[in-house]
Amino acid sequence: MTIAVTGATGQLGRLVIARLKETVPASGIVALVRSPAKAADLGVEAREADYGNPDALARALSGVDTLLLISSNEIGQRAAQHRNVVNAAKAAGVGRIVYTSLLHADRSPLSLAEEHRVTEEDITASGIPFTILRNGWYTENHTGSVGAALAGGAFIGSAGDGRISSATRADYADAAVAVLTGSGHEGKTYELAGDEAVTLADLAAEISRQSGKDIPYRNLPEADYAAILAGFGLPEAFAKGIASWDADASKGALFDDGRQLSALIGRPTTPLSAAVAAALPR
Ligand SMILES: NC(=O)c1ccc[n+]([C@@H]2O[C@H](COP(=O)([O-])OP(=O)(O)OC[C@H]3O[C@@H](n4cnc5c(N)ncnc54)[C@H](OP(=O)(O)O)[C@@H]3O)[C@@H](O)[C@H]2O)c1
Repeated sequence: MTIAVTGATGQLGRLVIARLKETVPASGIVALVRSPAKAADLGVEAREADYGNPDALARALSGVDTLLLISSNEIGQRAAQHRNVVNAAKAAGVGRIVYTSLLHADRSPLSLAEEHRVTEEDITASGIPFTILRNGWYTENHTGSVGAALAGGAFIGSAGDGRISSATRADYADAAVAVLTGSGHEGKTYELAGDEAVTLADLAAEISRQSGKDIPYRNLPEADYAAILAGFGLPEAFAKGIASWDADASKGALFDDGRQLSALIGRPTTPLSAAVAAALPR
């Protein structure tokens, strides 16, 4: 039984590999990576597998029974990249694909959703048994700004009082491992989100409580927030994207109360307080 994981040198992929190693023998795990040199510390076999290289993908997927396709981070190229992986998996006789999609991908207004919809359709059409993990927002997307909020004296965003059911990468990694190593998941699509639904004002209040400093939440018009992010040096398209996803969140696009994630992992999702504690500068 060989389980392969794409994006294995990414942040989510590294957590998945580490947790898989606690569950199955390392000899049954293959890391699919674009830079094998970056995978030297993973402790499992690493195979070169650039999403843009169908020949390399074909070689890398040989003998793989179960594949975790962690969605690419190259926004705009992902549908084509994922299609290469699905085609190579089909040709290699992969027995099951598990794909990390986006929460409510079928109806999500987020600009990110379209590429996930295309990949979900490709996977379904391939005839390969599949499981779709529709991952909600990473708590780290917002707690990554804790340092900036402390430096600037406010937490800024455009999510208004939208409630965000985020969970940590570690929570989503545990869900992936549960599905990769468990049974009864074929043909299922899981909407994965945190048990808690918090506003950015709740996040700012938690940062204030733990830091002992007054860090209010300052809600900005979407265009103003995008301009500030671009001013921090983010590429303009990405800055606009982040602001737009916050604006979508203000209308509930990142909310879910189905608790399918905690059911899958058999424990509550990581509380906001723990995620903030992990993000506070030491
Ligand atoms: N739900 C959310 O809130 C959220 C937030 C951010 C991202 N995401 C999605 O979840 C995915 C995993 O998250 P993450 O935090 O682990 O992202 P990440 O750290 O940016 O990792 C992305 C991985 O994709 C790999 N990759 C990119 N282009 C590739 C290519 N052409 N061929 C092969 N591999 C390629 C990267 O390889 P290298 O290691 O060589 O760079 C990296 O391992 C992201 O890629 C994105 O689709 C979701």
